[in-house]
Amino acid sequence: MKAIIPAAGLGTRLRPLTYTRPKPVLPVAGAPIIVHALRTLLHAGIHEVAIIVSDATREEIAQTLELVPEARVTLINQHEQLGLGHAVLTARAWVGQNPFCVYLGDNLFEHGVSPFIERFQQDSPAAVIALVEVPDPTAFGVAQLEGERITRLVEKPKVPPSNLAVAGLYCFTPEVFDVLDGMPPSARGEYEITDAIQGLIERGRTVLGQRVCGWWKDTGRPADLLDANRLLLERITPDLQGEVADSQVTGRVVIPASARVTRSKIVGPVLLGEGVVIEDAYLGPFTSVGPGSVIRQAEVEHSVVDAEARIECLHTRLQDCLIGVRAQVRGGRTVPRTHKLILSDASTIELA
Ligand code: G1P
Repeated sequence: MKAIIPAAGLGTRLRPLTYTRPKPVLPVAGAPIIVHALRTLLHAGIHEVAIIVSDATREEIAQTLELVPEARVTLINQHEQLGLGHAVLTARAWVGQNPFCVYLGDNLFEHGVSPFIERFQQDSPAAVIALVEVPDPTAFGVAQLEGERITRLVEKPKVPPSNLAVAGLYCFTPEVFDVLDGMPPSARGEYEITDAIQGLIERGRTVLGQRVCGWWKDTGRPADLLDANRLLLERITPDLQGEVADSQVTGRVVIPASARVTRSKIVGPVLLGEGVVIEDAYLGPFTSVGPGSVIRQAEVEHSVVDAEARIECLHTRLQDCLIGVRAQVRGGRTVPRTHKLILSDASTIELA
């Protein structure tokens, strides 16, 4: 079985983080989102993967692949971002006559993708789609079911036919390409994978919906990245290798040999990257710190700090933060009466 990961989108809901970096390379729990996706596919026995990239995202996505050398990855450029259906069609020649799955690389499944793939291989329908019950399905593809068969599928409906959202895993036979080829764009101007599946249903093909067991997370918005980080850190294995001096480390904490913790308190789950320096600081649960970052005289909790960031001399605790590569958060010696800010477009700073 081959897999396609569409990863050419602009990630607009994650701005300003995605102004400078493509969404798939943003880290959660110590690894880029797309690396988690590739590991999930490898775990399901899928080694051959095509990642659909844009001309702008190709290079940065390519750089993350060294973290998963076991995956045999082909990068395919989608020159124009015309929707998920179009992204999938771009990989038609690569897929050939094989059954395949499409894994939206920004989705995380607690129990991976094997249950859907096994179901597809067992029952040989035209498609198996992962479904999940959500309180507000209007932001998703929504399915109507009869037994296990999907009878109707609509993309982001104003009036949803059910509360069953399409989660980011689809298994297909190559017939879906015949439907996609020549299909008109939707009202929002995109070639929707949802419309192609509806096309399969209208051809009388069997499209099965399979519910997700355990948690599922679509990391489309900033709060989702923090949630995904928390969910993944829940299952890290403690590993204390780096130098820890005059410090207290409790719970599940990963400190690689190249990291250093001095006069600090760390309450896990916390994951530190290579070369991280923590001094006179407090790190609270669900915090991951990227390689080369420094946290000194500061308190950070439930946050994702990317690589080479510096957080120093703060009088208040940072909580629920996403801190970008080489970003700096610095306090003065006294409580400031003024704030001196250099903010990129659409940044958000909450001064409590
Ligand atoms: C896409 C699909 C949608 C699906 C969702 C899952 O939407 O079009 O059907 O429910 O992924 O994450 P997007 O997140 O690209 O808006």
